Amino acid sequence: MTQELKEIAQGLKAFLLNAEEDEIILKAALNKEKAAFNSNESRGEETSHKSEEASLSGETAYAVRNAPQEKTRNAPVEIMTKSTDKKETLTSDAPIDKAEELAHIAELITNCQRCDLGKTRIKPVPGEGNINAKIMFVGEGPGYEEDRQGRPFVGRAGQLLDKIIAAMGFSREEVFIANIVKCHPMIDPTNPDKRSNDRAPKSDEIAVCRRYLEQQIKTVSPDYVVALGGVAAKTLISEVQPFGSIRGKILDLKLSCVTLDKPVKIMATFHPAALLRNPGWKKDAWQNLKVLLADMGRQPASK
Ligand code: URA
Repeated sequence: MTQELKEIAQGLKAFLLNAEEDEIILKAALNKEKAAFNSNESRGEETSHKSEEASLSGETAYAVRNAPQEKTRNAPVEIMTKSTDKKETLTSDAPIDKAEELAHIAELITNCQRCDLGKTRIKPVPGEGNINAKIMFVGEGPGYEEDRQGRPFVGRAGQLLDKIIAAMGFSREEVFIANIVKCHPMIDPTNPDKRSNDRAPKSDEIAVCRRYLEQQIKTVSPDYVVALGGVAAKTLISEVQPFGSIRGKILDLKLSCVTLDKPVKIMATFHPAALLRNPGWKKDAWQNLKVLLADMGRQPASK
């Protein structure tokens, strides 16, 4: 495909993503009351991370950049139409490879000013990992360290996530890691250098940001998504069910902005930051992940 056609295809996709925005904002407003009600139920499992002092040791390759360029047919682009509230599918014949598509999503995130988080972030954190990952981990949003490095899970919670991934028998380079929101939510956005300034993302921030994650999931097309903590579980599984009742269950992932090309399973478990605060929950999280591994037909890494 010529460069010109590629640009037209990318421009069309950006336009369609924008067209969907009003619909999502409206839905978010309608769901706000429900979400406020639910947050009372899940407060015990709040995942908003605390100050993350340590930085990542060693270099983790950003596999999206380095991965082989596998050609795939461009996925259909879908929008929610205002008049019918039904999804319409527009199919483009443009062949776009996965790495290119993920880089395009990252570029949209870098230029995004759909909510105030874009104004106060230091670096956007699109996510990173293997473009052909079988498993994708989804956290809540970047913290202090991630904001500085532009990479997900590189603080203390990230070090624990690395250990969890290794115990599951994967390397960080084999999986894909992303967040529900792509910019650092701060309690006091006027003071980005302050530690312990993290907060959970608000529902309107999630509503305008989720399209990026959904497109990433569709593009990577993993077999499994692990929702880390209450915010990811609420966003990707259910706004109404309490975290405690969905944690550890293998469910079918249903997205609201895009339609997946194949079935993807999802399981929620505790957020690594919650495990750091409550080490007693680690054995429950490990139990959940062993169920997931068994479903994948895999064994945990031998010690
Ligand atoms: N917590 C998250 O949810 N995401 C990160 O990237 C880091 C900490």
